[in-house]
Amino acid sequence: MSSSNPLLSGMQPTGPLHIGNYLGALKNWTSLQDEFDCSFFIADLHAMTIEYDPKDMPVYVNELALTYLAAGLDPEKCNIFIQSHVPEHSELAWIFNTIVPIGELERMTQYKDKSEQHKQNINAGLFTYPALMAADILMHKPVGVPVGEDQTQHVELARSIAKKFNKTFGKTFPEPKVILTPTPRVMSLVDPEKKMSKSKGEKHYIGMFEDPKSIRKKIMSAVTDSASGSKKMPAGVENLFTLLEACGAEKSLIATFMEQYNEKSLQYKDLKEATADTVIAMLKPIQEKRKQLESDPGYVADALLKGTTAAQAVAKETMKEVKEKCGLL
Ligand code: ADP
Ligand code: TRP
Repeated sequence: MSSSNPLLSGMQPTGPLHIGNYLGALKNWTSLQDEFDCSFFIADLHAMTIEYDPKDMPVYVNELALTYLAAGLDPEKCNIFIQSHVPEHSELAWIFNTIVPIGELERMTQYKDKSEQHKQNINAGLFTYPALMAADILMHKPVGVPVGEDQTQHVELARSIAKKFNKTFGKTFPEPKVILTPTPRVMSLVDPEKKMSKSKGEKHYIGMFEDPKSIRKKIMSAVTDSASGSKKMPAGVENLFTLLEACGAEKSLIATFMEQYNEKSLQYKDLKEATADTVIAMLKPIQEKRKQLESDPGYVADALLKGTTAAQAVAKETMKEVKEKCGLL
């Protein structure tokens, strides 16, 4: 571990994760924790920006903590904490709200998409979401933020907020870089021109804890034909190849399918069967680990306590520096 190169990332507790979340971010976190001083958190305050049932929140927070640990995050190697348990994040977000131009927030594609999806609830929190995300990030002064491609724009805004803060109040924050995986944008199974997302509905994604039968069924009915009729590989077929590779299929198997594709002899059924086998095999140990963890709630609680205590200490220190620089102390 190198404490001079911290990394930080988080996800919202809005329901079970899918393999897009895993291949685009979480899997990478489990490797990065071996090399860097990492903090990974549960963004419960961000999850409040869309309508939710308060009864579900603790269930989803626990679900995400279990998922992080089942995927291989190790509380001995990284800090895992809950965003709202470190209230300094909200305090710093307010300060960033006073320096981020409204125009920058209006450019955010996630804000545009979500206000389109949730027309009846376009709240101010949805709009200032990136200021809180910048606070989450910069509070811990990381050099990198491992996320999927759709979060790149938010991380760039955090960099621009850091620059503006430093210019106005004196050098305080680093300008962290986005860290992407080779699969930063896994596509939907039924609408392969769009990213795999939980907000689009069950058929579009494969949940990390879905049972093998259901995974196979979804992959076997994945869309493979090309809408455009162009010579390019259809997006759905490309997505299956991507999954096959990212989930750890033998290189020779992928090469054989690719050869068959080029010779126009590839049976999509075979490609789908192999993709299903590979996805199921990749998820098996994670699903088993989760079962173990479910029977040991003390382990999960201890992991969160350790991570939160460490995050609180960092946050106190950063806020003291920030407040001094802003003339609040
Ligand atoms: P969703 O769109 O399913 O609600 P989130 O926005 O909660 O997912 O994303 C959590 C993390 O997973 C982020 O780092 C995000 O960039 C990454 N991610 C989400 N969907 C994908 C995808 N289809 N491919 C790769 N990474 C993804
Ligand atoms: N916006 C991120 C997502 O939807 C979650 C998030 C909140 C985050 N704060 C963050 C990710 C800070 C990285 C760093 O997935």
